Amino acid sequence: MTQIGIVQEGPEEARVAATPVTVQSLQKLGYEVVVEQGAGARSSYPDGDYEKAGARIVPAADAWAASVVLKVNPPTDAEIARLSDGATLVALLSPALRPDLVEALAQRGITALALDAVPRISRAQSMDVLSSMANIAGYRAVVEAANEFGRFFTGQVTAAGKVPPAKVLVAGAGVAGLAAIGAASSLGAIVRATDPRAEVADQVRSVGGTYLPVDVVVEKSTDGYAKATSEDYDRRAAEIYSEQAADVDIIITTALIPGRAAPRLITASDVAAMKPGSVIVDMAAAQGGNVEGSVAGERTVSEGGVIILGYTDLASRLAAQASQLYGTNVANLIALLTPGKDGMLTIDFDDVVQRSVTVVRDGAVTWPPPPVQVAAAPAPSTGSGTQAAPRPASKAEKMSAGKRIGLIVAGIAALLLVNLFAPDPLPQHFTVLMLAVVIGFYVIGKVHHALHTPLMSVTNAISGVIIVGAMLQITDANPVVQVIAAAAVLVASINIFGGFAVTRRMLSMFVKGGQK
Ligand code: NAI
Repeated sequence: MTQIGIVQEGPEEARVAATPVTVQSLQKLGYEVVVEQGAGARSSYPDGDYEKAGARIVPAADAWAASVVLKVNPPTDAEIARLSDGATLVALLSPALRPDLVEALAQRGITALALDAVPRISRAQSMDVLSSMANIAGYRAVVEAANEFGRFFTGQVTAAGKVPPAKVLVAGAGVAGLAAIGAASSLGAIVRATDPRAEVADQVRSVGGTYLPVDVVVEKSTDGYAKATSEDYDRRAAEIYSEQAADVDIIITTALIPGRAAPRLITASDVAAMKPGSVIVDMAAAQGGNVEGSVAGERTVSEGGVIILGYTDLASRLAAQASQLYGTNVANLIALLTPGKDGMLTIDFDDVVQRSVTVVRDGAVTWPPPPVQVAAAPAPSTGSGTQAAPRPASKAEKMSAGKRIGLIVAGIAALLLVNLFAPDPLPQHFTVLMLAVVIGFYVIGKVHHALHTPLMSVTNAISGVIIVGAMLQITDANPVVQVIAAAAVLVASINIFGGFAVTRRMLSMFVKGGQK
């Protein structure tokens, strides 16, 4: 049976790559799981819990010797040397920023899968560790800021006087930014946010923030991530940051463009303009920082008394939950790589997700993968002067002209034949059926996808008519008619009840929790 090894992280990291719950998911895929002694201790998962889940606790060397090794952070050179020949390593590898690491892994002749290279497409969301970690980190950034900030977040009116709410600015409304906006606004703060992707405005509002637009057109993203901003944009955004710095109490920066150093958003003079006791959390400190004066991994205080946090381990500070989400993402990836659920790991390069995460395959560097196109934003429909994106052709539109004419001729010929030779009243019924097929094909074929469910509910009425007709025929002396009528009743009933079930499910998506 193929072994999966869960190894202990370095001293700076409290997360672990699998929890007792995710160990069980891995076992269901046909793997034997071995866990390094104490690997989960810092994220509150004692060895005993792994054992209860069915894993074996082993010394470090045995966990590293497994055929598949699961890890959180990139391995050190010494750790790479501990992998067995032909092993598969799954971890965060930052392949774009660490060509040295990719080379070292290739030299070792192993297969390396980078969890941070999962493409941002809907099918891969269940494996997207960057999003699940950024979500946790965004929340934690607010908790860290609240801890440093010597005041309430929420406004209060007390007998001892009025307390104004804190004002928070979040720069960059990606996954981390939205989590920070949600956490800060639920603590009662007034939250504002910026992002070059104007399409996030609604998302910002939905989590309780106010979107501050920078009125400069920005190139649209095709891969789910932001593009570098123009000089025009940066100039206008800098004015907004300066205005906001003088007004807000807390700034949380999350701006990131993948594969590049983090854009510098908050200058030293913006920091100087903030009130003493204000707090800045620079979440991009590890990528060079969005804030002048932030230091990766450190807490610094500016001359003017502004606290700048450059912590790079925000997700690790909520280690139990972060490990659970990370472990689930990893287990989902392993499930994708184990189609037979037989403990046999296979990598299919025709699958875009598997291709994207594979950085090294059997000692050969396979990074970078071909780019993955993602329609990140819906095209603006009207008003902006931009042309709407072309709609994909429906099946009816795709049919070639020759084929269409052929079908029309065949239909007319069949109609003529039936009218000439069939006994009454068959020609009449056949003509009605033909017209219904043609009209139905064009009418239903043009219905927008979003309206398919309501359409289905409406067709229940037609199924009702079919049932009534079939029940009238079911007593016919001819057994063939009886069988056809019974089949019609059955199929139409399935359509009706299925339609109701789907419609009910759809409507329940719009019902707020608890409401009936
Ligand atoms: P993301 O790609 O979802 O979001 C980044 C956002 O920044 C995007 O919405 C993008 O449009 C925006 N952006 C890009 N250029 C900008 C500019 N010039 N001005 C304003 N916004 C701009 O990334 P995600 O997953 O939300 O991560 C955000 C940051 O948080 C990254 O730097 C990531 O490395 C960091 N992070 C830090 C952690 C820590 O412990 N400190 C933990 C997890 C993530």
